[in-house]
Amino acid sequence: NTIVAIVPAAGSGQRMQSTMPKQYIKIGHATILEHTLQKLLSIPQISQIIVAISSDDDYFSTLEIASHPKIKTTIGGDTRAASVLAGLRLADETSWALVHDAARPCVCVSDIEMLIKTVFDYQQGAILATKITDTIKKSISSTDCTPVQIEQTCDRRFLWAAATPQMFNVKDLTTCLIRAEQQHVELTDEASAIEYGGGHPILVECKRDNIKVTRLEDLPLATLYLQEQGY
Ligand code: C5P
Repeated sequence: NTIVAIVPAAGSGQRMQSTMPKQYIKIGHATILEHTLQKLLSIPQISQIIVAISSDDDYFSTLEIASHPKIKTTIGGDTRAASVLAGLRLADETSWALVHDAARPCVCVSDIEMLIKTVFDYQQGAILATKITDTIKKSISSTDCTPVQIEQTCDRRFLWAAATPQMFNVKDLTTCLIRAEQQHVELTDEASAIEYGGGHPILVECKRDNIKVTRLEDLPLATLYLQEQGY
């Protein structure tokens, strides 16, 4: 039951309007990526952390944490799935992969521990997620065109927002990601690759702190959550 954490950190962060990739923005004394890695390092069951960085990344090697013996890097790809696959190639086939976004520094360590416990208890893949509290509307065309008409309202009693970590065995996740890639299916998380392969991963409810820092306006909230957690 070894666990390898894979941290996709090769995104361009275009929605952040920052010259620097978003994971290198500082919150308090550390960058977003360092906060994320510290959370993973505090879990002894995680034996190794593979960070997928962009080929033109000039920042990672300057971080003190880069020389931590548990941390390795690999070059990510053009899509999130390609970056995760690059990480999976360095992992032992018999281990579990715990994939966690670089951009989610506020995840609670206790929630990651609960995810790991669930996966081990059920011997099945699982993801952290939050229950939807808003009323969710589906539009008649993509959100790129606005204003746009409503097609229908979704029944929120069944709706969750997928977060990370997402944990699957290395072999299954690799197979499903490769299959989705070959069939040009666009994926925005790892669970959807497993679902595409016919699986039904488990949802584990996490605290709402676990936001993805995507836009500039997310920074004050992330700062507050990290402060409240004592970072
Ligand atoms: O784009 P999104 O916000 O979903 O990205 C989630 C995570 O995936 C980020 O941590 C980002 O750095 C990473 N990513 C990646 N390789 C890509 C695209 C995104 O590692 N090509």
